Amino acid sequence: MEHATILIADDDRKTRDFVAAFLSHKGYQVLQAVDGQDALAKIESSDAQVVLTDVMMPRVNGLEFIKRLKTVRPELVTIAYSAFANSEMTANLLKAGAFFYLEKPFQLEELNSHIRRGMEHQALQRNSFKPKLKPKYRAMMQEIIGESESMISLFQLIEKVAGSDATVLIQGESGTGKELVAKAIHDLSPRRTKNFIPVNCAAIPDELLESELFGHVKGSFTGAIATRIGSFEMADKGTLFLDEIGDMKANLQVKLLRVLQNKELEPVGASHSKKVDVRIIAATNQNLDQLVALREFREDLYYRLSVIPIILPPLRDRRDDIPLLISSFLEKFNRNKLHKVREMDADCMEALCRYDWPGNVRELKNLLERLVIIKESGTITLQDLPDKYRGITSPGQAENVTLTGKDFCLTNAVEEFENRLILQALEKTGGNKKAAAKILNIKRTTLIEKLKKRKLTYPGASTPNS
Ligand SMILES: Nc1ncnc2c1ncn2[C@@H]1O[C@H](COP(=O)(O)OP(=O)(O)OP(=O)(O)O)[C@@H](O)[C@H]1O
Ligand SMILES: [Mg+2]
Repeated sequence: MEHATILIADDDRKTRDFVAAFLSHKGYQVLQAVDGQDALAKIESSDAQVVLTDVMMPRVNGLEFIKRLKTVRPELVTIAYSAFANSEMTANLLKAGAFFYLEKPFQLEELNSHIRRGMEHQALQRNSFKPKLKPKYRAMMQEIIGESESMISLFQLIEKVAGSDATVLIQGESGTGKELVAKAIHDLSPRRTKNFIPVNCAAIPDELLESELFGHVKGSFTGAIATRIGSFEMADKGTLFLDEIGDMKANLQVKLLRVLQNKELEPVGASHSKKVDVRIIAATNQNLDQLVALREFREDLYYRLSVIPIILPPLRDRRDDIPLLISSFLEKFNRNKLHKVREMDADCMEALCRYDWPGNVRELKNLLERLVIIKESGTITLQDLPDKYRGITSPGQAENVTLTGKDFCLTNAVEEFENRLILQALEKTGGNKKAAAKILNIKRTTLIEKLKKRKLTYPGASTPNS
């Protein structure tokens, strides 16, 4: 236990050195910070388990420091000390999450016994079967939440591939975090100071995608009123994220393959080519193997793209992460919306851990946002969940509709069924009406009309034209 790392935050160098010398002597690794702000920066990259902090410090004081620390590293043991104690301050420190408060001057052995007690408490709290997340993955985890085995392997893979320029193909169901992973690879790569340019190949009409990717010269086609550089050039020395690559049409697949092979491109209508240095990350939620077998996706392009394949697991295959995702999203939405929905009761959590999550993390995130908006404060219980999350299928669903009720009306039943499918599609696409319309195979304008007419609402789809 003595080999643990302890960070001391104190603006008074003498106290810091004195305490540090004692703790080093006891066998601890010791880090020092001159105030709360410095300590927060140092904690990011450290493996510290215990933090000692003075209360009166410039920039970020001890109380503020502990509060912020609780949001990023809630498991840390924090011990605060000050010469200017009063009961209100002590109460505030403990409320903010300090493990113990010591009044100065204190005996060093007394401090040591509180450190040991804190660490024992921490060990009890730590879930023994959870793999311990290495501190270097914590920054990644700020965005990509997960501590399950498959996520730890994913973090390791991201870290490894980030350093190379190899093309990556990310596959996984909708909402599993493909874009998040692509961004994480870029952010950890030597290209991070240059652009990360995402292009959604499914959202751009086929006839415009070529010019979007490679640019065009003025007058090369009707509407090309000015020369424009494409995403490839914008991503020069950076990363180009080709999302929904499975939707790219055959003629463009050939052109893309040529650019990948030659590392040079020809803008639409240009007479000469340009060199580009771009790292490609592609993603799709379609089964590319199958598209290749069906000859809808070029085999040679598939191999060129999938130098490093990354498959993201659906949420139902990493259920251990559901409680962590729930608490992280609760915290995030409470913070964003200044609401106080502090927790979810055990029955509700259990139901959500059982559910299959066809829309994966996006569906869970949207549900949590909706619950925080509706509840505003208190505890989320089973009653707050829509029926399907409680394992209850609604009588509105087609298979359960009975024809015997005297109030049965085919038009209403069909409309009800349609509404459910519309809401499901919006849920799946995180409220994106264009993408939802595509799933439903109807025009976006038709979808918007139905939503308006039937007064259907979906959080995240609040702007009528989005
Ligand atoms: N592991 C995760 N931790 C936190 N948030 C996540 C995670 N995975 C996905 N999300 C969130 O879920 C939403 C969907 O993620 P993302 O857009 O990366 O999914 P996708 O796999 O690209 O989906 P699609 O195929 O539909 O484009 C985003 O809001 C993202 O922030
Ligand atoms: Mg995506």
